[in-house]
Amino acid sequence: MTIYEGKDYKDLSKKAAEIIAAEIRINPGAVLGLATGSTPEGVYEQLVEWYEAGELDFSKVTSINLDEYKGLDGSHEQSYRHFMYQHFFDHVNIKKNRTFVPDGTEMNSEKACMEYEEIITQNGGIDLQILGLGANGHIGFNEPGEVFIPETHCVKLTQNTIDANSRFFESREEVPKEAYSMGIRGILQAKKIILMAVGKQKAQALYDALYGGISPEVPASILQLHPHVAVFADGEALTVV
Ligand code: GLP
Repeated sequence: MTIYEGKDYKDLSKKAAEIIAAEIRINPGAVLGLATGSTPEGVYEQLVEWYEAGELDFSKVTSINLDEYKGLDGSHEQSYRHFMYQHFFDHVNIKKNRTFVPDGTEMNSEKACMEYEEIITQNGGIDLQILGLGANGHIGFNEPGEVFIPETHCVKLTQNTIDANSRFFESREEVPKEAYSMGIRGILQAKKIILMAVGKQKAQALYDALYGGISPEVPASILQLHPHVAVFADGEALTVV
């Protein structure tokens, strides 16, 4: 595991974006596992900048996102599909039919999850996975629990996550209580993984993920078993007080 401490957010975002850019140049048909949340926004901004400068081509790239709120349509402002359009897909030449996000409008959880597993398998898994980190150690929406759940599943969001994500909604009540999330197998089978963490509110979770025991109570700790993880964090996230 490599840990890069960024001078600031822009710097660590650029470094993480460089890895993605290199992946696409080496493998133009790469399957990227993408994440939402405020942490990777700087990475998308940097990739868009390079695309606009004619330095990157996404025309053969496939993307498979980690998660989506159950019950939200892709046109809902807080849906993760909408986030991806707003921050990335609308600004680069990725083919929209090569961008996959779990179907939040499918209320049959079993069907939604099975279909997403098929998408992951049909595309041969993920070449490079980008991950943010929940303050409770979650990755995607794999919340702390008693077991690691391997496949795409419907998650009952923890109060901690609902509170953290309520900043994007008008009120806490509006935050969906459930989400579809890629499971730990889909994530761990990625060939390479980038884990990003910014700010002191992530420090304990990052410390537990990197140096604590491997436990489903800290879902990100499973990354210790992966041979190619690069961590991009700022000083605050790397300092436990
Ligand atoms: C959400 C997402 C995660 C994300 C996490 C952290 O719950 N499901 O994929 O990593 O929040 O978000 P942020 O980067 O905004 O702190």
